[in-house]
Amino acid sequence: MTKIAPSILSADFANLKSEIEDVEKSGADYIHVDIMDGHFVPNITIGPLVVDAIRPVTSLPLDVHLMIENPDIFIPEFIRAGANIISVHVETCRHLHRTIHAIKEAGVKAGVVINPATSADMIKPILPDVDLVLFMTVNPGFGGQSFIPSVLNKVKQIVQWRKEMNLHFEIEVDGGVNQDTSKLCKEAGVDVLVAGSAIFNNKDREKAIKVIRNA
Ligand code: DX5
Ligand code: ZN
Repeated sequence: MTKIAPSILSADFANLKSEIEDVEKSGADYIHVDIMDGHFVPNITIGPLVVDAIRPVTSLPLDVHLMIENPDIFIPEFIRAGANIISVHVETCRHLHRTIHAIKEAGVKAGVVINPATSADMIKPILPDVDLVLFMTVNPGFGGQSFIPSVLNKVKQIVQWRKEMNLHFEIEVDGGVNQDTSKLCKEAGVDVLVAGSAIFNNKDREKAIKVIRNA
């Protein structure tokens, strides 16, 4: 079954606890947490303090998506705060292999993220080392943007490489996922769908999750 990771970027930040509890009881598989620094992306969100604060609120894995320059500096803090999966952008890592292994050595799952305009070849050498590959289907920075369908060609390429190399990482997509685009993602072979606005802008989260999952 396709996993659903609601992105709390679109949640009501004044009521984060109840928002997370709501999507957990509505069937979410992960809680997707978007960390933005105002440098790598043109927006600022939250840091380790908030991850630490929401940790006791849910038993779901915290899927932490770092959209920050110099992620190596902050990774230990996100680990201490209770992240279960930490994903770093290939565009921000000078020594991607070192960064991925630093995350894994701490007992946390490690993911690599690629932007829409970055080639799949950029992450081919790291595939044997990661637990997750996250494809941005929008340019990162904001919720509520439109899905970029050409990214699915890269997804299909990675699905093929995963098979050829006999690897088992999860494939996740993030950005513009809704009732219509989720179907395309599933057809391309995606395992985990991140959705922010399509879940949190809907009063009935259970229905929203079901619609995306079963599209
Ligand atoms: C975008 C973030 C996404 C965002 C998705 O930079 O990484 O996780 O919250 O929001 P929607 O689903 O509204 O496109
Ligand atoms: Zn994200």
